[in-house]
Amino acid sequence: MNITVIGAGYVGLVTATCFADLGNKVLCIEKSENKIRKLSAGESPIYEPGLTELLRENIERKNLLFGRDIAEGVAYADVIFLCVGTPQSEDGRADLSQVEEASRQIALCMKSYKLVIEKSTVPVNTHRWVKRTMYRYLSSDIPFDVASNPEFLREGSALSDFMNPDRIVVGVENDRVKETFIALYKPITDKGHPLLVTNPAEAELIKHAANSFLAMKISYINKLADLCEKTGADITMVAKGIGLDTRIGTRFLQAGIGYGGSCFPKDVKAFIRIAEQNGVDFTLLKDTEIINCERRERFIDKIEQILWINKDKNIAVWGLAFKADTDDIRESPAITIVKALEESGANLFLYDPAAMDNFKLVMPEKANLRYAQDKYDALSNCDALIVLTDWKEFAEADLSEVKKRLRLPIVIDGRNIFPLELMKTQGFEYYSIGR
Ligand code: UGA
Repeated sequence: MNITVIGAGYVGLVTATCFADLGNKVLCIEKSENKIRKLSAGESPIYEPGLTELLRENIERKNLLFGRDIAEGVAYADVIFLCVGTPQSEDGRADLSQVEEASRQIALCMKSYKLVIEKSTVPVNTHRWVKRTMYRYLSSDIPFDVASNPEFLREGSALSDFMNPDRIVVGVENDRVKETFIALYKPITDKGHPLLVTNPAEAELIKHAANSFLAMKISYINKLADLCEKTGADITMVAKGIGLDTRIGTRFLQAGIGYGGSCFPKDVKAFIRIAEQNGVDFTLLKDTEIINCERRERFIDKIEQILWINKDKNIAVWGLAFKADTDDIRESPAITIVKALEESGANLFLYDPAAMDNFKLVMPEKANLRYAQDKYDALSNCDALIVLTDWKEFAEADLSEVKKRLRLPIVIDGRNIFPLELMKTQGFEYYSIGR
């Protein structure tokens, strides 16, 4: 099948590359010249394990092309995926201007039938606006369909999430569109992954509802972690104990310094606003958000309670990305925490396996804020090590080397990456979350 993908951000690029890899001919349209230059040379503008290789393979196989001209994209395929950004606007709602612009431009250059599919995360009933916009700008009575096909991939495991999804959700209004999706996803459904057919409004809702539910699960376990700290229980055991109930499930019950990234914070906010606009006061999600914001402050207080005075202390920080396996620092708890430590007068030595370049744009290097060569280099002569991201290479660190390098064997872990017993036997003064 010929497919056009509009937008080469996280979702667009992964969608384009994976559909190309499944044997389709894909043209990905992107405004940024810089991105197009990189992509055409087989370079991924985002850090995602395995993406560069898959990108190159499919460019070589001529299954994947990049371009800037939306008219070219519209002429190229009958199936068009909208993967443009839907950032947060000042009042918390999703800013849909890029969705409107793409819908308008598609309509303006359409000469034959098109199926326009929303893949970006959008508020419920956005499909109605896409349709309305297209009707308004179409020059003649050309038929088209609008469908919703939300994406559930996670940064860091995006390719495998796309190819092996828990489910594929398609929101359609007629059988023709349903059959197109069945054909498009056949290589994936043949492996046993289910495809759920709904109407477009349900599909749009499912995306926001899923992200909000997962965020709520994280805030729940984080609040429970506070109770564990007060009562002498270990949150990892409590999480295991409740998670083994298959109705609850063990995943997304990792307590820590809260969720970040480009999705959960934005989507929870947007979902609260969507509910509000429809007369529903979603207090459960408001609390989810409040609890998440408090995590960072609580952790900053915890550091102060342990170190007493941060001023002039040398502090090593492991992890700047909002989670492991990504260079993304958007809404990363590390931004708030590192800023607070810096303001309190500490000398900081930061290290992250992938996110340092991005972090430097927010917090440039200076006398009291240095970026280390590697994780051990960050530790030399430090009074404490603070862990902010759950990278595997941190969990697998040589603890005797860590102890040797630190001036004081104090580890304050915001992600619970080390076993309590091990830290005790290794002689660390170890603090973590809810244990
Ligand atoms: C999230 C969803 O998991 C995807 O399904 C969705 O497609 C994506 O948003 C999106 O809407 O585009 P992502 O933001 O990549 O994916 O990251 P997650 O793995 O979900 O983690 C989000 C945050 O929650 C991270 O800061 C992570 O550290 C935190 N987290 C996650 C916890 O604190 N505890 C957990 O148990 C799990």
